Amino acid sequence: MLNLIRHRTLFFLGMGMGLLSTAHAEIRQTSVWWLPRNVTMFGHEIDFIFYVILILTGVTAVAVFSVMIYFIVKYRARPGVTAVHSHGNNTLEVIWTGIPVFIFLALAIYGNEQWTQMRLKTPPADALPVAVIGEQFGWNVRYPGADGKLAKMTASSVTKENPFGVDAADPAGLDDFTTYGELVFPVDRPIRLYLGSKDVIHAFYVPEFRLYQDMVPGRIYDFVWLKAEQTGQFQLACNQLCGQGHYKMFGKLSVVPQGEYETWAKGKAPQPTAAKETSTVPVVMADR
Ligand code: CUA
Repeated sequence: MLNLIRHRTLFFLGMGMGLLSTAHAEIRQTSVWWLPRNVTMFGHEIDFIFYVILILTGVTAVAVFSVMIYFIVKYRARPGVTAVHSHGNNTLEVIWTGIPVFIFLALAIYGNEQWTQMRLKTPPADALPVAVIGEQFGWNVRYPGADGKLAKMTASSVTKENPFGVDAADPAGLDDFTTYGELVFPVDRPIRLYLGSKDVIHAFYVPEFRLYQDMVPGRIYDFVWLKAEQTGQFQLACNQLCGQGHYKMFGKLSVVPQGEYETWAKGKAPQPTAAKETSTVPVVMADR
């Protein structure tokens, strides 16, 4: 009986792992065994500090375990050999405390400086503003029109019908356009994100961007910005367990040349109301 249960457990475990690995193979487009490729400006520093820490901890681990194994063998209990009592060595202790203190301080100062550049400095003035508001289970995305400005958004105004919490009276918002789960970023241009949530905590996460930011209801974060340096297709995946549909909270994200972005934006933009009567161009509705 126990054997049968064990077999059944193994069977289901195997099935689950098989399904997982299929899903995995579908999602990851770049390196499966190592870091996914980095396509953003800040990613270089993040990868650099990752490799520095990996090498430091790797070398330390190999050195510590080698010395430990050597000492275990060398000073093993043997008949006729008595233990020597040691009261320590002040010089050695200062050295092996001083070196790690120096390394940790250097890492903390470097990391803090990079974090300041990424999140605490005002994003560049020419950045393209893009608002992304998470909801169970998808992404509301808002782009500025020709004026390059998004409508004024307030977190307290976010409702089911008004996911961006926009001020309807703000003229800057008239030419804004929206998509659902579709993002297109021009390459080599800073993007300033406005991140929020309609309901529960979600997270904006693109591994190739080395970018992770929680999206908390009641707040709109305006300090996250990035610059993609390579074109490509990526997946925006929610990275906070936000409910039953969390696993399918994907967004399609492409980084394209500036010209291609402009063509795409033009195709999405709503036609101005005044021009509607005279224009022969069909009104293109925003994706939603
Ligand atoms: Cu949204 Cu998980």
